Amino acid sequence: MNDYEKYIDAACASFRTLISEQLERQNRMEEGAAKKDFAAMDKIVIGAIGGDGIGPAITEQAVRILEKLLVEEIESGKIEIRNIEGLTIENRLAIGKSVPDDVLAEIKECDVLLKGPTTTPNGGTMESANVTLRRELDLFANVRPISVPEEGIDWTFFRENTEGEYVLGSRGVEIPGKLTMDFKVTTKSGTERIARAAFDFARNNGKNSLAIITKANIMKKTDGSFSDICHEIAKEYPEIAVEEYYIDIMTANLIKKATRNKYQVFLSPNLYGDIITDEAAEIQGGVGTAGSANIGDQYAMFEAIHGSAVRMIEEGRSEYADPASIIKASEMMIRHLGFKEKADRLLAALVNISSNPDYKVTGRSDGIKGAEFADKIMEII
Ligand code: IPM
Ligand code: MG
Repeated sequence: MNDYEKYIDAACASFRTLISEQLERQNRMEEGAAKKDFAAMDKIVIGAIGGDGIGPAITEQAVRILEKLLVEEIESGKIEIRNIEGLTIENRLAIGKSVPDDVLAEIKECDVLLKGPTTTPNGGTMESANVTLRRELDLFANVRPISVPEEGIDWTFFRENTEGEYVLGSRGVEIPGKLTMDFKVTTKSGTERIARAAFDFARNNGKNSLAIITKANIMKKTDGSFSDICHEIAKEYPEIAVEEYYIDIMTANLIKKATRNKYQVFLSPNLYGDIITDEAAEIQGGVGTAGSANIGDQYAMFEAIHGSAVRMIEEGRSEYADPASIIKASEMMIRHLGFKEKADRLLAALVNISSNPDYKVTGRSDGIKGAEFADKIMEII
């Protein structure tokens, strides 16, 4: 038996495990889970996770704002904001786990999380902490709103967040120096639940169209079934017009100023959603301006959509980092918890300050500091 045969045998054995695990996950989803009702809870614990790079600096600003906005709820004990340390790249590398067990246990004691960016090393087998948390907490819907009022753009992206290219992204096959393979997974229940989340959102928010994004002409099994299942669910929502686009042309369509404001709700598998939401955030004014919600039935995690910008730390510029994205994420978080009026106030203040050229955060000393930006928002709310 040559060397390659050994690799092939090992890969086949591991592939069997992967399929059974994914099938078990599908079956667990099919059984369904109870939904947490925040309105009925006596106490809600918000976990604040700084993360890496500029994460702690910007998260601190968002927490300051929340402490002001939710002062009555915090004083009455209805809300607790709990700081969670230990999700740093140094600690994760030292322990050799993307989310160390003790940190995960602490996180699971919370109800919702506000999370700064975390660094993921390229290559190796260390999974992204985001991916681990989305899986461990079963945060299946990644919801990213984008708005450019002057252009009439009001988009909401529903990105499947627990499968696709991500779920086995650290468990591919390699024959060193010769070949590498990764796997992409689409399950029936996983697709149904993200599709329902998107269509429910459309229905409850007066939207009458929804765009499914796939590459089903090429990824015939996975995107093919994603597409079929979404169209099946669409039948439950006859008032919503459904169109399907391939990811490449949709990426182009978002650049077409003349027509892009006709889109309302987008529904896509994981990786396409990752890519296209960065594009959309750039159209809104930069990835630093967009927030992201990761919603599950038991937990929800709200985060900045940008990375940890380690270079800013190396250059000593962390206090100039833009907290807009994580502040946007905290606005989405309190809205999710049912504090609509406070969320509206925070959003209005954020839009107001972000559009004021006197309060521009540039990431450098020619702009204002993150703390000053937060101060201005706190003055308004
Ligand atoms: C995002 C990020 C993450 C992703 C990374 C940090 C794993 O790009 O939330 O969009 O790819 O999902
Ligand atoms: Mg991304």
